[in-house]
Amino acid sequence: MTRKQVTAPSVTAMKGTGDRIAVLTAYDYMTARLLDEAGVDIILVGDSAAMVVLGYENTLPVSLEAMLVLTGAVTRARTRALVVGDMPFMSYQASTSDAVRNAGRMVKEGGASAVKLEGGRKVTPKIEAVLEAGIPVMGHIGLTPQSIHELGGYRVQGKDERTRERLLEDARAIAAAGCFSIVLEAMPADLAREITEAVPVPTIGIGAGPHCDGQVLVINDIIGMVEGRVPKFVRSYGDARAVVSDAARRFVEDVRAGRYPDESESY
Ligand code: KIV
Repeated sequence: MTRKQVTAPSVTAMKGTGDRIAVLTAYDYMTARLLDEAGVDIILVGDSAAMVVLGYENTLPVSLEAMLVLTGAVTRARTRALVVGDMPFMSYQASTSDAVRNAGRMVKEGGASAVKLEGGRKVTPKIEAVLEAGIPVMGHIGLTPQSIHELGGYRVQGKDERTRERLLEDARAIAAAGCFSIVLEAMPADLAREITEAVPVPTIGIGAGPHCDGQVLVINDIIGMVEGRVPKFVRSYGDARAVVSDAARRFVEDVRAGRYPDESESY
């Protein structure tokens, strides 16, 4: 496996080469280190941190300050992967100057090499302004969790002709605005294929079928470090929850029984 540093232009250049782009989220130093060593191309410090790290019900409450702390931990760990910092709710919606200033903080304070913004045509002025500041932007359309109240819940998008057309137009618009890649979340596989064929930049799918140029999943979902049910598109690659529970239970038993620490574990 090549250890060449992944950059936003090198991700864009993967379009049409047949090389699929592997993306996972991470929110802390050690996990990021392992993902980087495993060859993940892009580490996304997703605002999903609101739920899987901070215990909120949705992504809306997480602050830019919290995202900066998590992004800093991840960027200190990576050697090869591109680190994308997710712009949290209300860090870019109100104005283009908010978008530029806060994307700048993601790069300057968080160490990210790119940022991700949710939305289609409506956010193109913000995407253009952030790009103008020299910061690469990853787009995100389909199910955009920061618009959950507008969308009426976590629903697959683009199931009727009108929303299909709208998503296709959104993808074309943000690609034309200059996004180096676009996340397609929760949409029919045939629509994701149509979008992938229509735009000149890589699409990264999550719940969007197999025809995207890459795939992204939330790390907690694939290692079983979650509560409750995971969405249908998640594939399980491990049971970290069982590992942590078992280790904690055995530690508690050893402490209570006076078995820990023993002589070799004492000074
Ligand atoms: O916040 C996140 O983890 C994301 C991915 C699911 C794409 O936006």
